[in-house]
Amino acid sequence: MSFTSNRQVKVFNHPDCFIPGWYWALPSRQLRVGQVKPVTLQGRDLALYRGRDGRAIAVDAYCPHMGAHLAEGRVEEDGLRCFFHNWKFNTQGHCIEMPGVEPLIPLQIQTWPTAEHYGLIWVWTGTTPSSPPPTVPELEQADCDVRLGAHFYKNCHPNVVMINAIDAHHFNTVHNLPLEIHFVKQDRQDKAILFSNTTRGGQDSWLIRLIQPLYKQEGTYSLCYWYGSTGTVTLGPDCLHFYILFTLRMLPEGKTEGQTVLITPKRSGVAGWLLNRLILQVTQWVGNYFARGDTRIFQTIQFDFQTPTKADQSIIQFIQHLEQQPAIAWKTWVPLAVVPTPGELALSSQSMPEVIGCNLQD
Ligand code: FES
Ligand SMILES: [Fe+2]
Repeated sequence: MSFTSNRQVKVFNHPDCFIPGWYWALPSRQLRVGQVKPVTLQGRDLALYRGRDGRAIAVDAYCPHMGAHLAEGRVEEDGLRCFFHNWKFNTQGHCIEMPGVEPLIPLQIQTWPTAEHYGLIWVWTGTTPSSPPPTVPELEQADCDVRLGAHFYKNCHPNVVMINAIDAHHFNTVHNLPLEIHFVKQDRQDKAILFSNTTRGGQDSWLIRLIQPLYKQEGTYSLCYWYGSTGTVTLGPDCLHFYILFTLRMLPEGKTEGQTVLITPKRSGVAGWLLNRLILQVTQWVGNYFARGDTRIFQTIQFDFQTPTKADQSIIQFIQHLEQQPAIAWKTWVPLAVVPTPGELALSSQSMPEVIGCNLQD
């Protein structure tokens, strides 16, 4: 494997910028009709409310009159009224009422596109979404049952948490699985990247030989990643695939807040409903098993990829994939138009500036 580019890493594991896209804001059921809540998403303060028509609306948090947080206000019909002097904003962000002010001053607050998917409210960190929210590749047309899994915090960057699922070597060393995993990667049209396992397991293991009749070809284990921050895992025998979505957002200083969602396609009838409860429970156990195994590492790691090996190939591909995408600044969401110089965006000691041009060690 050879790398020809010597571009400096500018996005991966960086605490000050990120790839624009859909980011999860709240579980849908935590925002009922008539409620407004504060959410800080990728450093930007928002007010999220649900009007009478049931739509979730995301607006910049601070009132253009005097800066009151709009989540202190109240929802009226399909609009939001500021608590402080009662100015009212419609779903497009236009100020439509200013009690005591004549004539009305033309004002508009910034609104952001939202979507509800897999039990979460997602916000697009730009003006116009270029793709739908992240969806399990095998389930793009499917109506699904979902259950929210763990809500968690990690003491390192979302990109670093994300690579765990394609760190082939650690399945042996941390999770004690007798597997040989080799990934093949595929770039998707929606700028996602897909990694699929190509092996049938490990012939040395009686366990793998026992379950091999359950799958015709390779053992299904695939990951699809969007924006380096949301991933879906697909795994299991041919007759029953399990699906887990894990979606992360960046906290100050490049830390992580995440949410997992367990997913299965809807099955008909009462029996199908009951079966899905069982499948989602098993999916949760699977997810918990993998999450527990790594927890300590993400509290203390100082990511510094000094010595990549061949087993780390998919991680390097993931990093390269992120580096090819546009970035916007944390908090302001302003596009970074030019590649920052090292002085402008000094890479922290946790970053890995050499990896793009590195030589792999066996
Ligand atoms: S601060 Fe919002 S109306 Fe005055
Ligand atoms: Fe892991």
